[in-house]
Amino acid sequence: TPAPPLDLNNIQGDILGGLPKKTETYFFFDVTNVDRFKANMTQFIPHVKTSAGIVKDREAIKEHKRQKRPGLVPMAAVNVSFSHLGLQKLGITDDLSDSSFTTGQRKDAEVLGDPGTKNGDTFTPAWEAPFLKDIHGVIFVAGDCHASVHKKLDEIKHIFGVGTSHASISEVTHVRGDVRPGQVSAHEHFGFLDGISNPAVDQFDQNPFPGQDSIRPGFILAKENGDSRAAARPDWAKDGSFLTFRYLFQMVPEFDDFLESNPIVLPGLSRKEGSELLGARIVGRWKSGAPIEITPLKDDPKLGADAQRNNNFDFGDSLVRGDQTKCPFAAHIRKTYPRNDLEGPPLNADIDNRRIIRRGIQFGPEVTHQEHHDKKTHHGRGLLFVCYSSSIDDGFHFIQQSWANAPNFPVNAVTSAGPIPPLDGVIPGFDAIIGQKVGGGIRQISGTNPNDPTTNITLPDQDFVIPRGGEYFFSPSISALKTKFAA
Ligand code: HEM
Repeated sequence: TPAPPLDLNNIQGDILGGLPKKTETYFFFDVTNVDRFKANMTQFIPHVKTSAGIVKDREAIKEHKRQKRPGLVPMAAVNVSFSHLGLQKLGITDDLSDSSFTTGQRKDAEVLGDPGTKNGDTFTPAWEAPFLKDIHGVIFVAGDCHASVHKKLDEIKHIFGVGTSHASISEVTHVRGDVRPGQVSAHEHFGFLDGISNPAVDQFDQNPFPGQDSIRPGFILAKENGDSRAAARPDWAKDGSFLTFRYLFQMVPEFDDFLESNPIVLPGLSRKEGSELLGARIVGRWKSGAPIEITPLKDDPKLGADAQRNNNFDFGDSLVRGDQTKCPFAAHIRKTYPRNDLEGPPLNADIDNRRIIRRGIQFGPEVTHQEHHDKKTHHGRGLLFVCYSSSIDDGFHFIQQSWANAPNFPVNAVTSAGPIPPLDGVIPGFDAIIGQKVGGGIRQISGTNPNDPTTNITLPDQDFVIPRGGEYFFSPSISALKTKFAA
């Protein structure tokens, strides 16, 4: 029998579909008056954009384009999410059965490898001050332009009386993300096309692209088919999803300088091409988005832009473990989603429970001439990283700790077919984009030179991506918002 359809009117819109956005503001808040908050929520809930609403918005955007109307469709969409501290504040004591969520990200930061200081047993991450405080929830508004988002956020703040004597919430901080300008609008700050590979969710994504694996909805939505913790979770958690937020600063001039100083030397490649190749091998894709597994030595922008082809690949020869000729194990996309390194023959392991849906946005200005000249960051910029999954323990937390930060991974990775054997003496190394060294040591990666996959290169002491804040949240269903969060 076919699975019952998902109730898209009950699922927040950022989870399935994603809020359409050119700009997005995350407003982090504390609940200061519980009774008033619950009363205000009744007025707020109709503003929450659902996944059904996103499907409609997409149609409106398509129609706008079909009719060749100028500009963008004016739009501002709102979602809301709560931390464990927020649930406690509201008197919601049910266990959502995710220890990362219950711990909170500030206390999890040491395990994630974030820089910080240790005093006795207490670790304090080197984060921006507001993220060291308690945060109860986040309301986020995405839209076509700053004016649309401001207007909507003002409406929402008015509902909760923010800044008045009858306020039910107070602002902890807010951060604004903006897509980059012009040609690079879909690219992250290092210059690489982003948002290419997300899993397709059964019963929602009707026509997955070639190579885009489908997963059961329960890997993203609590208590749906595939959620291994469903039985332990309260009924109201159904159709909610955990939201991981990470405030990630990117050292772009330093990253560029590293590539320029360490070009891969191969016959026929200019120095500049050698630097571009190093960047591509660190990410696993060229700046255009073209996967190096398909086009290892030369960018192919047509392939990068073609959704029918740009995700349709597996790594190496699935029968020869240890092959990093085309794509290093340490490449960001191989570390964070190892595809057939773990699944498929001969291992037949299942990595669906490690899948996340990514919904980030860039923040900060373009690199200035001065920064480029100095090879040094003077202005904060990076990624407001956001992802969803039905478990942070199995999703973000695991990917960061056990894959990106683990120099040996995938060697000895435990699969249903047993551990993956050593790769002929090669240590894959860190994820060069997000891998953080836990407790010192040098950061190395192997496999950057296609002709010499066993040689290591050493990454600079200063990481290219620096976490400066974050929290774990739960985005409840609309019915849960009505019954548990409103009165
Ligand atoms: C994919 C950049 C942080 C997980 C990608 C891609 C780029 C990228 C360029 C390839 C485009 C695509 O496949 O959609 C970055 C940058 C980051 C960052 C610059 C930090 C500033 C993270 C973090 C995680 C993560 C913190 C999770 C721990 C992933 C995953 C994919 C991906 C799962 C898709 C891999 C695939 O399905 O092939 N990232 N990323 N990224 N990233 Fe990141």
